[in-house]
Amino acid sequence: MDSCVIGWVIVYSLLERFMISVADHDVLTSLKFGNNVVPCQLGNHLRLGEASKEQVGHDQGVQVTWPGVAHLSITSSDIPTDYSVTCQDVTWMAEDCRVTVFEDCFSLDGAHWYGGGARNMLLWPIEKWDVEMEPFVSDDGYSGYSGVVERYWLNSNGLSIYVNSEVPLWVSLNSTGDQQLCLRATYDNSPYNNYDQSQVFLNYTVCQGANVKETQLFAFENFFDKPFDIPDETLFRYPIYSTWARHHQNITQDKVMAYANEIIYYNYSNAQMEIDDDWESNYGQLDFSLEKFPDPQGMVEQLGDMGFRVTVWVHPFTDIVPENDWLGGLKDPGGQLPALISWWNGVASTIDFTETESVDEWNRKLANLRQSYGISSFKFDAGETNYLPAAYRPAVPFRNPCDYATKYAEVAYLADPDVRHQEVRVGYRTQRLPIYVRLLDKTSRWNHENGLRTVIPHVLLFSIIGYPFSLPDMIGGNAYSGRFPDRELFIRWTELNVFLPGFQFSIVPWQYDEQVIEICRDMLTLHEQYADLMIELARNATQTGEPIVRPLWWLAPEDAVALEIDSEFLVGNDLLVAPVVEEGATSRDVYLPVGSWRDMNDVGVVLDGGRWYYNYSAPLDFLPYFTRLA
Ligand SMILES: *[C@@H]1O[C@H](CO)[C@@H](O)[C@H](O)[C@H]1NC(C)=O
Ligand SMILES: *[C@@H]1O[C@H](CO)[C@@H](O)[C@H](O)[C@H]1NC(C)=O
Ligand SMILES: *[C@@H]1O[C@H](CO)[C@@H](O)[C@H](O)[C@H]1NC(C)=O
Ligand SMILES: *[C@@H]1O[C@H](CO)[C@@H](O)[C@H](O)[C@H]1NC(C)=O
Ligand SMILES: *[C@@H]1O[C@H](CO)[C@@H](O)[C@H](O)[C@H]1NC(C)=O
Ligand SMILES: *[C@@H]1O[C@H](CO)[C@@H](O)[C@H](O)[C@H]1NC(C)=O
Repeated sequence: MDSCVIGWVIVYSLLERFMISVADHDVLTSLKFGNNVVPCQLGNHLRLGEASKEQVGHDQGVQVTWPGVAHLSITSSDIPTDYSVTCQDVTWMAEDCRVTVFEDCFSLDGAHWYGGGARNMLLWPIEKWDVEMEPFVSDDGYSGYSGVVERYWLNSNGLSIYVNSEVPLWVSLNSTGDQQLCLRATYDNSPYNNYDQSQVFLNYTVCQGANVKETQLFAFENFFDKPFDIPDETLFRYPIYSTWARHHQNITQDKVMAYANEIIYYNYSNAQMEIDDDWESNYGQLDFSLEKFPDPQGMVEQLGDMGFRVTVWVHPFTDIVPENDWLGGLKDPGGQLPALISWWNGVASTIDFTETESVDEWNRKLANLRQSYGISSFKFDAGETNYLPAAYRPAVPFRNPCDYATKYAEVAYLADPDVRHQEVRVGYRTQRLPIYVRLLDKTSRWNHENGLRTVIPHVLLFSIIGYPFSLPDMIGGNAYSGRFPDRELFIRWTELNVFLPGFQFSIVPWQYDEQVIEICRDMLTLHEQYADLMIELARNATQTGEPIVRPLWWLAPEDAVALEIDSEFLVGNDLLVAPVVEEGATSRDVYLPVGSWRDMNDVGVVLDGGRWYYNYSAPLDFLPYFTRLA
C-alpha cells in the first residue's frame, strides 16, 4: 500500500458521486449471489467518473478502476467451507491520497439484523436502533458502544458482513431513520492511528447462506476463534458477591467481613467474594489501603476458612502520585511523558499493554497480591477505547484502538490461566479466551435504556459475536444515582438470571424481606441444578462455537416471532426461558417455537410449539421455563 503524505487538499471525499456509466452502476448497487440480489450502495460520496472495468472469470467477480481515484474489487472469497454459504470480498483501494473516505451501505429493510456491539439503549434486533455515523470502537456504553465490539453483522435472510480489522471503520445504523447499515473507512477525525500513513481502504466479506442459523454457524467456523477451553466451573454454579453496587467506593475490611457473614448466615452458596473499588491507597498501586483494610492477609485467610475465594478489582489506570513509583503507562506522542486520561475516579496514566516490561511489572504486582495476601483472582475492569489518551505512542503501534482491549484481555487471561475465575468487560477478537466477559454496568430500572430489558438482548448479542461466557452484571443493577432497585425489580432480575451462565449478587436479598430471601434462594438452587447443563454447553462451544444462550431462531430460523422476540431465550436447544420483564406484570405472553414443550412448572402439561400462549400466569415468585421433548 502506498504511503500518503499528510496535508493534501481533501477534495474528492466531499463531492457527491456522479457520472457513473450504466454497467458500473450495476456493480455499485447490488451484490449478486446466484439469483439472490443484495441491494447496496457502494462508493458513496466518491466522484468516480469514467471507469475501466475488468471482469475476472465468470463467477470470480469484477475489478473496476477509476484511474487516479479508486479501485474496487469484488471477488468470490476462497474461504474453505463445509456449508452451502458463499462469500464475496469487497475491497476499495485509493488511487490517490486525496481520496480519504470510502463508504458502502446495505439496506436494513426486509430483514432483522444482529451483531456489532451493545449500546446503552439496547433493542433486539438491531435494525430498531438509530445510530449516527461514528467510529466503530468500544466505549463505556453511555454514548457509544460498550466494551465488546466485533465487526460482524448478520441478518435474518442469511446475509452476513465481516469487516477487516485494519480498516479505520465507522458505522451508522438506521441513522435518522435511513434504514441502512453504512460502513465507512476514514482516518479523518478518527481514533484510528494511521501511524504508517497508509492510504485509506475498505475491505470486508459479505456472505450469503440458506438462513440465519447456517450463516451464523459459518461465522463460528470462519470468522471467530472458538474458545479453547472454558472458565472455572465453580463460576457456572455459584454466585460471585461483589461489594460494588452495595457499597460503591465506601468499603472496609469490616464491611467485607460483615457481608461474608451474612452470606453464610442466610445459607447462600458462593463462588467468590469480589472486593471492588476502592481498596487501594492510590489507584493502580495494587496494594491494600491499611486504613480501610488493617489486616488484609488475616481477612483473606478468615474468608478462606469460611469457604470464600477472594478476588480484587483491578484496572489499567495508575494515579499520578509520588507513592506510585512505577508508571508503565502509555506515553505521549513525544515518547517521554505519560499520556494522561480521565476516568471515573480521576486523572491517571493507563498501562501500555504492548510494552513487555510494563506488562511484566504489572504481572509481578498481581502475583504479589496472590503471594502476600492470598488473593486468588481478579476482576479486570475498563479497557475501552474512550479511556485511551487523545494522543499516545504505544511501544508497538496499533491502527485500531480496539487492539488495546485485545491485549488487555490476553493479559487478563494470563493472570489466572489455570483456574480461570477472572472476569473482563472488554473484548475484541478475543473469543478464544476461556474467561467470563461481563455485561457493562446495568442501571437499576426496567426499561430498554440499560435496564432489566437489556439483559437478554445483551447476552444474545454476545452469543452472536462469539462470546459464550457472559457474566451478567449485578442482579438488580448498580444502584447508581441513588436509584436503589425495588423488591419487584430485584426478584424479576434474579429470575431472569437463573438460566444465564454466571450469577452475581452485590445488593443482596436480605436487604429486602423474608419473601425475597426465600424466592431468591429457590432461584439460586434452580440455577445450581442446571449448572451441569451450562458446563456441558460451554464445553460444546469450544467445539462448535455454538453459544450457551441462544435466540429462539436457533431452533426456528424462518419463524417470524423467533427472529424478533427479545424477552425469551434458549439454553442449548432444549430449554426455553420466558422470564417476566415488565413492571407490575403477573402474567406474560409466551411464545414456543416448533416442537413439543413440557411446562416445567407443571410437568404434566405438554404444549405444542409454533404458537403463542397468552396471559400465561407468572406471579412474582414464578419463572416460566419449558423443556423440549424429543
Ligand atoms: C429506524 O429509525 C426510525 C426512527 O429514526 C424508527 O422509527 C425505525 O423503527 C427504525 N428502524 C427501521 C427498520 O426503520
Ligand atoms: C480483505 O482483503 C484481502 C486481500 O487484500 C482478502 O484476503 C481478505 O479476505 C479481505 N477481506 C477481509 C474481511 O479481510
Ligand atoms: C460510608 O460508610 C460509613 C459507615 O457505614 C457511613 O457512615 C458513611 O456515610 C458512608 N459514606 C458514604 C459516602 O457513603
Ligand atoms: C441455614 O441452615 C441451617 C441448617 O440447615 C438452619 O438451621 C438455619 O435456620 C438456616 N438459616 C437461615 C437464615 O435460613
Ligand atoms: C453437546 O455436544 C454433544 C456432541 O455433539 C451432543 O451430543 C450433546 O447433545 C450436546 N449437549 C447439549 C446440551 O446440547
Ligand atoms: C390477556 O389479559 C389481558 C388483560 O388482563 C386481556 O385484556 C386480554 O384479553 C387477555 N388476552 C387473552 C388472549 O386472553
